[in-house]
Amino acid sequence: MQKIYNKTELAEVAEWLWKHLYPNKILALHGEMGTGKTTLVHALCNNMGVKDTVGSPTFSIINEYSFQADGKEQNIYHIDLYRLKDEEEALRTGVGDTLYSGSYCFVEWPEVAPEIFPDNTLHVFITLAGDEKRKIEIERK
Ligand SMILES: Nc1ncnc2c1ncn2[C@@H]1O[C@H](COP(=O)(O)OP(=O)(O)O)[C@@H](O)[C@H]1O
Ligand SMILES: [Mg+2]
Repeated sequence: MQKIYNKTELAEVAEWLWKHLYPNKILALHGEMGTGKTTLVHALCNNMGVKDTVGSPTFSIINEYSFQADGKEQNIYHIDLYRLKDEEEALRTGVGDTLYSGSYCFVEWPEVAPEIFPDNTLHVFITLAGDEKRKIEIERK
């Protein structure tokens, strides 16, 4: 399953992706630098009414956002593994605990530590698709 989108279609793609993620909570975003992983995470957050979407978690590895759903506060962890070396380092920095915390986790550069992802992770692959366009493919189950 795939979609081609430009920046004006981000909200639509985010809605489509939320539907595919349900009822699971872990999303692994594969794609080279500049393909739009961070941009898509922000669109996913906007879609749920997250108020405080900040920049890319480049320096913090894990960023925490929150939104209200069914009268409860829900967390989204935006994780960027780019600066980590491997699984061992990911586990040491708390990424493993976060992935199994029961909260939403959207992870950039999952290939740094492929083994730590739970089986119900949804893997998506983003590539460039012409001028200002991106292609997103959802892994077939
Ligand atoms: N269709 C699109 N979807 C997402 N980003 C796009 C699109 N077209 C152009 N861009 C641009 O591509 C860049 C993507 O950057 P970013 O989201 O930080 O990528 P990554 O996190 O994958 O390195 C941004 O400058 C964004 O404005
Ligand atoms: Mg990024």
